[in-house]
Amino acid sequence: MQVNELLTVPISDLELGGKAVGRHDGRVVFVDRGLPGDQVVVRVTRAKRTFAEARLERVERPSPDRVPAPCPHAERCGGCRFQELRYERQLEIKERLTRETLVRLGGIASPPVAAIVPAPERFHYRNKMEFSFQPGEDGAPRLGLHERGAFDRIFEIETCLLPSPLTVEIVRFTQRFARDHGWRAYHPRRHEGVVRFLTVRHLPITGECAVHLVAADGEIAALETWAREVAALSPAVRAVSLLLNRTRANVATGEERVLVGSGVIVERLGGLEFEVSGTAFLQTNSRQADALYARALEAASLEGRECVLDLYCGTGTLTLLLARSAGEAIGVESVPESTEHARRNAARNHIANARFEAGEARAVLREWARGERPRAPKPEVVVVDPPRAGLHARVVARVAELQPRRIVYVSCNPATLARDLRDFTARGYTLAEVAPFDLFPHTPHIECVALLTRAT
Ligand SMILES: C[S@@+](CC[C@H](N)C(=O)[O-])C[C@H]1O[C@@H](n2cnc3c(N)ncnc32)[C@H](O)[C@@H]1O
Repeated sequence: MQVNELLTVPISDLELGGKAVGRHDGRVVFVDRGLPGDQVVVRVTRAKRTFAEARLERVERPSPDRVPAPCPHAERCGGCRFQELRYERQLEIKERLTRETLVRLGGIASPPVAAIVPAPERFHYRNKMEFSFQPGEDGAPRLGLHERGAFDRIFEIETCLLPSPLTVEIVRFTQRFARDHGWRAYHPRRHEGVVRFLTVRHLPITGECAVHLVAADGEIAALETWAREVAALSPAVRAVSLLLNRTRANVATGEERVLVGSGVIVERLGGLEFEVSGTAFLQTNSRQADALYARALEAASLEGRECVLDLYCGTGTLTLLLARSAGEAIGVESVPESTEHARRNAARNHIANARFEAGEARAVLREWARGERPRAPKPEVVVVDPPRAGLHARVVARVAELQPRRIVYVSCNPATLARDLRDFTARGYTLAEVAPFDLFPHTPHIECVALLTRAT
């Protein structure tokens, strides 16, 4: 097998990252696109002794599980890459991948994986989406989504089935406004230009919407008019702001300048209200997050008097939901603005038995253990909800040293979940259940709530 060679490969599966997997001459072939059941012709891009990587040239025989793509941009777009795979098949694959990952990377012989919880909505489920600006060939600004596999090429969207219809209306309005007013789009490689991203957050439960324009400079023609006209598109638009990102980092965040409203909108989850501002973390599928949090609360099995520690707490969503059924809940979060939000959320919901510590989970646990930070807790239950990288080995060790009765692990990456569960079980914990949730239909993402218990 050589680079550039054309191969015919039957696709048998998907891997955790979403690549299609087939076999050729005893070697595993990872293909950028393709669905289980397809027979595809691919061009080899990398050939190793045990595996190869390849690019899809054409689908020779389509999978019986293929359905017509509902989105007109399906061919070009980098998002929703499984929208052509029957949803039930997507679920089946995600549930199986969770189980297989726990066996392979976690060394857990027969993991107690529950049936995957399907998303309540298959489309329009995202409450937040980021769109990128880029100069077109003619220099005019373009605003849209990334082309498949290209960080520096975007296409203008006519529609998008992941966010709300209002989100799409705001994007299309801004596309026209930017062109009519000669806004200079930022180029991600040349680092020239002004407008960089447009982020729209439209929260489905309260219906509130916030719009953020991210730019390298505040000098933007008719900026206030744009903000006013965006707000006039719908009474749902409560906040419009400019986020100034003068750095070279291509991230949709920066110093906030409020243009309309107070900069804050509110979502309701588990019966509580949560403030959300510019860049604060909030699960992007509100309704399914509600179900995920309910499962985490059930797993915590609180009786009303316990002390609960919530590591990686963001703006305090889980911490406050836990506090309602506990004696005390303590949230730990590395982004200080998020802990500020969390405190405001506690006050907004009249919750007095929650407190928040700003700091890296590992450092906070170490300082408590060494008596270098006051009010070290002795939690009966620990909840963790880390980013994709999972837990640092020292965090696993410190949590186990606290000897909580239960550990509830909310994960957005089955691979690091498997590794960390293996480490907890090596420290005397038993894996009681792993419940996969589909928060992001048509994408490879899998969320899980796992419960570990200690015998005594
Ligand atoms: C997946 S989010 C979970 C937030 C929250 N549980 C929720 O559902 O809204 C992970 C959070 O961990 C925070 N974080 C990342 N690294 C951290 C660290 N080393 N220590 C503490 N918090 C961290 C992030 O800022 C983010 O708010």
